[in-house]
Amino acid sequence: MKNDEKTEPGTPTIDAKYKIEILAKGPYIVHGKPTLEQKRIINNEDGEPWDYIKDKSFEMQEVTSLCRCGESKNKPYCDGAHTHANWNPELTAPMTPLLEDEDAQVYSGPDYDMFDNPDYCVHVGICMAKNAAWRAVRHTDDPERKAVLEHEVERCPSGRLKLFSKEEKKFIEPDLKPSLAIIEDTKKKCSGPLWVMGGIPIVRPDGETYVRRNRVTLCRCGQSHNKPYCDGSHVAEQWKDNL
Ligand code: FES
Repeated sequence: MKNDEKTEPGTPTIDAKYKIEILAKGPYIVHGKPTLEQKRIINNEDGEPWDYIKDKSFEMQEVTSLCRCGESKNKPYCDGAHTHANWNPELTAPMTPLLEDEDAQVYSGPDYDMFDNPDYCVHVGICMAKNAAWRAVRHTDDPERKAVLEHEVERCPSGRLKLFSKEEKKFIEPDLKPSLAIIEDTKKKCSGPLWVMGGIPIVRPDGETYVRRNRVTLCRCGQSHNKPYCDGSHVAEQWKDNL
């Protein structure tokens, strides 16, 4: 099976006008005019990361170039800075489906199997609130802890965490329309990845398409070691887009 025929379970079927092409040494070329918003992480009553709030919207065209090297002076758009920026544009992430990767693990509880591939963590931290999703998955016989688990996993922007319902025998995914967001983390004082929602296909320079997924986070700072995906390096780098 060619990779462009692969779709992760729970990913919606969408209009073919949507697509993100990655240029070998340049930006993300976004087709189809999905919306683009800045989403800022907000805390719960205990000061833990808990949800997102929309801060800004950005104009999109039928075809829009978004910065991938982290150095544009016109972020979130590309201004050609990738030609002289100090970055490695190489795409090193495996084409293997995220859940089939050797680093993926499964945590089982009464209602759900929680799949986890830590290579795709973007350090938003919502999954760590209220004693963490990894504990909650074992205690879903308590409705409050079940609700915490579902809340945390569906807000994992990269899809590192994913729930499989044992009763329904299917993956449970949030209902996401094809859209984009850029994540702002005021607590960690940094800006984060490009959040690609709703199954927009992502195409490599060689024409191969990554496994289509409902929740994906693409590196925007230029420093990830798992490109095109974010690996959380923007936190250590304290990268800011200053939008
Ligand atoms: S934006 Fe997260 S590693 Fe680049």
